[in-house]
Amino acid sequence: MNSEKLLYEGKAKSVFQGEKDDEVIIKFRDDMTAGDGARKESMGQKGYLNSILCAKIFEIIEEGGVKTQLIELNEPCVMTAMKLDVIPIEVIVRNIATGSIIRKFPFEDKTPFNPPLVQMDFKDDEFHDPMLNDDIAKALGIATQEELDKLRELALKVNEIMKKMFKDIGIILVDFKIEFGKDKDGNIILGDEISPDSCRLWDSETLDMLDKELFRQGKDDEVIDAYEEVFNRLVSDEDKAKFSIQ
Ligand code: C5P
Repeated sequence: MNSEKLLYEGKAKSVFQGEKDDEVIIKFRDDMTAGDGARKESMGQKGYLNSILCAKIFEIIEEGGVKTQLIELNEPCVMTAMKLDVIPIEVIVRNIATGSIIRKFPFEDKTPFNPPLVQMDFKDDEFHDPMLNDDIAKALGIATQEELDKLRELALKVNEIMKKMFKDIGIILVDFKIEFGKDKDGNIILGDEISPDSCRLWDSETLDMLDKELFRQGKDDEVIDAYEEVFNRLVSDEDKAKFSIQ
């Protein structure tokens, strides 16, 4: 297998050429970063938990009618996915105001957004992922108006699917970030990952955080327990068998 040809090394995942030209192998690592990569730690089991959670979430999103990059989870931490031409836009959907939006604008912490708020940031470490508007995205040549409209439509659909999915397991989906790419026919496909690294998740009863925000706040020793909590609620024994997990 030609899986050793590294195509891209991200902050938490490495992407290798797959067996077929139009496939990649994504390896989920245990690395966790915060503050634009200023802080980096290895969190045992994170790659394992996130890869399975991501596969499960992508499956549910596909069932809801949004095409994702997932082909299959070969084994924990190793996913075969469609090779995409990545659109350098981080699409963020917010159901509740918290995080960077309350630092940038005078929204009160924990205010619900009704309808949900869609934000697009330019994915570029050098420029620290600045917030976009449609005109800037078009002037940068990273998306057409039609594509921007599609990203927004798909992001809101993903939000509806995930809000229900998490509600059913006693979790509030506060906000999340997703990324998209284009397949060889130009179709827009959901890519990258969805996991507690990329979502804010609160327990519906206690409002305890169950996501990477714990790491951002320096509560490193609570991170894996929180991810395991999400894992245990979302991944059934049947799923574990399907994903070849003992
Ligand atoms: O920090 P901020 O409030 O903008 O984050 C909004 C949501 O997007 C959070 O769920 C966060 O985990 C996610 N996010 C991400 N990767 C980034 C920026 C934000 O996963 N680079």
